[in-house]
Amino acid sequence: MTQHPPEPFRIKMTEPIHLIGPEEREKALQKAGYNVFGIDAKNIFIDLLTDSGTGAMSQHQWAAMMAGDESYAGARSYNRLSEVMQDIFGFKHFVPTHQGRAAENILCAVALQDGQYIPSNMHFDTTEGNIRARGGRPANLVIDEAFNISSQHPFKGNMDLEKLENFIAEVGTENIPFGMITITNNAGGGQPVSMENLRAVSEIYHRHGIPFFIDACRFAENSYFIKQREDGYADKSTLEIARETFSLADGATMSAKKDAIVNIGGFLAVNNDKLFQKICNELILREGFITYGGLAGRDLDAIAVGLREGLDEAYLAYRLGQTAYLGNAIKQAGVPIIEPVGGHAVYIDAGKLLPHIPQADFPGQALAVELYREGGIRGVELGSVAFAYPDPDTGEMVYPELDLVRLAIPRRTYTQSHMDYVAEILGRIAKRGGELKGYRITYEPKLMRHFTAQFEPIA
Ligand code: F0G
Repeated sequence: MTQHPPEPFRIKMTEPIHLIGPEEREKALQKAGYNVFGIDAKNIFIDLLTDSGTGAMSQHQWAAMMAGDESYAGARSYNRLSEVMQDIFGFKHFVPTHQGRAAENILCAVALQDGQYIPSNMHFDTTEGNIRARGGRPANLVIDEAFNISSQHPFKGNMDLEKLENFIAEVGTENIPFGMITITNNAGGGQPVSMENLRAVSEIYHRHGIPFFIDACRFAENSYFIKQREDGYADKSTLEIARETFSLADGATMSAKKDAIVNIGGFLAVNNDKLFQKICNELILREGFITYGGLAGRDLDAIAVGLREGLDEAYLAYRLGQTAYLGNAIKQAGVPIIEPVGGHAVYIDAGKLLPHIPQADFPGQALAVELYREGGIRGVELGSVAFAYPDPDTGEMVYPELDLVRLAIPRRTYTQSHMDYVAEILGRIAKRGGELKGYRITYEPKLMRHFTAQFEPIA
């Protein structure tokens, strides 16, 4: 196959998108307080805000939805999903949930007590939020290479095993109700975790009697990276690699909006019978009965088909090829990115592209706004707007290491010419980067401010 294999599908239904004029874009920005979350989707040309729930379902998924069984209990749709779950993940039990964070909430509600610690390579922000909401303390123990944007380490999502051992010794096994790992590592550039590392992490957790949970959102992309990059896996199928991955764990949380290529859904899976009982009780209280968990029967069918399609190797070759294609094109346009390119997104180093804008004036925000202004493209700032916080003792702002803008690619949604367009717009912005100005916050909520903060340009 070629380096960037073409789409292994053709298009039989289209959704129109429009590039509105420059004056209208300027108005839309002003109305949104220069926060791209506030712009109506109808005014976006290419939407790379997230790869979550934004993919295109296949004809097989749509067809399966028509056969959805909407029985309250014991629906056929549940049985069909159950069969696929068993085949791929192999956990003894699972419940559907309405999305990933619902699975995280239920796991934390039943397994975590005030003051306890949950280690991971890096938690996603909803996982971190759900741990904190129960009085827990998340810890991120990824390898140092994850923060070196030019390091070519093939598995930058790996857990640092020494950090993990030291962490367990420091806080004590009795204070760690379960440990996690996120595949791929979204908070750290969509970087994969190797099987060797998964095996070692599993061994360490289990030696200390700590149950091991995998945040499985992008498990299929992680499996394909292992196939491509890890010795001994080139001839294994992604299904075999996924099975081996989950055989190492005691449970998993998943947002099906990613690698199951559906618009809504998730699950929580476990082996432990007693824990499962508690999960069922909590699920019934919060989400719905155990055979639907807050979803329609037809959603379960779409997930069942999508889980298999997400593991298809022709699809994964195209999928990861497309992300790499965009990354390379952006780099060639003179814009610094995190390398190697991750699975679901390209992360631009806005701090490096716009060195004249200090972190306090939000270089990532300046780039995210300019992407929309120049080309109607929506990405998301993951830098000082999203992550800076005042030190609780001194009140002084603590800034993140990197000011990034993430361009997440929805699955099976955009073509190569959309990617070419994005790279061209970025190239134009890079040429006049020196003219870009920073932003000042005019409103911010206390938590997760990047979703709703308002800004004004600094004159
Ligand atoms: N874990 C990871 C690694 C994620 O990337 C996400 C969502 C979740 C959990 C939560 O899942 O949204 O279904 O509740 N990530 C999306 C993103 C929102 O844009 O990266 P959810």
